[in-house]
Amino acid sequence: MINHLNRKEFLRLLSLFVSGSLLNPQQLLANTSDYSGFSKADFGKDFLWGVSTAAYQMEGAFQEDGKSNSIWDTFTQKHRHIKDGTTGDVACDFYHTYSSDIDLVKSLNMKVFRFSTAWSRVLPNGIGRANQKGIDFYHRVIDKCLENNLQPWLTLYHWDIPQVLQDKGGWMNREVIDWFSEYTYLMTKSYGDKVKDWIILNEPTAFTVVGYGVGVHAPGIRGVNHLLPTIHHAAICQAEGGRIVRSNVKNANIGTTFSCSHVMPLRNFEKDHIAVERWDALLNRLFIEPSLGLGYPISSLPFLKNIDKHIKDGDMEKLVFDFDFIGVQNYTREVVKNIWYIPYMHGLEINPAKRGATEYSELGWEVYPESLYETLKRFSSYKAVKKIYVTENGFARQDELIDNKVHDIQRVNYFKSYLAQMLRAKNEGVKVGGYLCWTLLDNFEWREGYKPRYGLVYVDFKTQQRILKDSAIWFQNFLM
Ligand code: NOJ
Repeated sequence: MINHLNRKEFLRLLSLFVSGSLLNPQQLLANTSDYSGFSKADFGKDFLWGVSTAAYQMEGAFQEDGKSNSIWDTFTQKHRHIKDGTTGDVACDFYHTYSSDIDLVKSLNMKVFRFSTAWSRVLPNGIGRANQKGIDFYHRVIDKCLENNLQPWLTLYHWDIPQVLQDKGGWMNREVIDWFSEYTYLMTKSYGDKVKDWIILNEPTAFTVVGYGVGVHAPGIRGVNHLLPTIHHAAICQAEGGRIVRSNVKNANIGTTFSCSHVMPLRNFEKDHIAVERWDALLNRLFIEPSLGLGYPISSLPFLKNIDKHIKDGDMEKLVFDFDFIGVQNYTREVVKNIWYIPYMHGLEINPAKRGATEYSELGWEVYPESLYETLKRFSSYKAVKKIYVTENGFARQDELIDNKVHDIQRVNYFKSYLAQMLRAKNEGVKVGGYLCWTLLDNFEWREGYKPRYGLVYVDFKTQQRILKDSAIWFQNFLM
């Protein structure tokens, strides 16, 4: 997709997913009992609160008990793919610490623990013989949640296809529909009696575009010719996975999640508005619309035109699935400018610091809480969307441990301002049923490594010690 960009432009384009401006964190004391005029009760008694996590970012144990490599294991071994040269080999060591970590979730007064299963742990060959030790691990995780009265929410795919399948083309190969179906079948048969809440894909736009189009995430493949089949196969798997869960799990609550952002023009120029339409189609419409039977947003995103080559008879029906909920994952907004020579997108997101944004995260993402409100309104305007959960939202910074405490006032304020916007949308009738924050523990932030910390709980990666940050204490009190 981005082949023709020079290095600088190319990097700007990536900033939508993986940018890197630095903000000097302020060390102020958080007022952990200030709720900015709203309380838990305002969200209703059935509203679900929880945390989201992902396998590769925290499990570690990358070669333990029969697990094979995923594309992220391979990708992180290669020089210079990850900014600080780190890997997820150990990460938060959750494979061994899951029990006390899940106790932490409980101690924060949360009700939901969202995790993903690592395909390469349960099916080391991608398909075929299951690895019982891998299956057992997730039984232990799920059982621990249930003992603690937490709902386990299982994500089937959080970006880590087994390397053996990548060797056959991964998501670019249409056979992935069979592979993913087999994996989903195994997961539902293994855990369907205990797990009722299922998420099929995590942010398909991100893992397809960044991994198979731009190539700065695993598996590091570039070019629109690789991206288009990847998008189509992922979109089919999204629906096919839903069908398999529906037929194997009684009373399942089935969703899929999207990375979403409110997109705005830099200037009130017609061309910037047209650029907004393209970016909006890429970021917000690409995967939800085919699932609703609306097809791909080709007229707004012309580079999709050749996706037809990969569409077989009957595929348009296969893309459709009646999800019980949609997971929206929002962190920031995007402000875009028309730039005619940028291939395919003819526009770029403008760096928040350069356009004068005053507050942004360690990843350079602007704090713009209204984006969550706009996103919720927008997704609820699709008539067929029955329910929405905010399945990720959070703030990255370079937290510092001082006297065994982390005063992450910026993160507390971030959460308060985004929750206020979520409540605003809810009060205006958006059917938002819950909020899962990103994330429980500081962890491996993909190509950024370990420097940006997102956790409510600080992790000392040398000792694996956990320390509740002020933001964790804020949630603990808020959810009491
Ligand atoms: C999206 C992804 O799902 C998650 O893995 C990532 O760490 C966060 N957003 C923050 O970038």
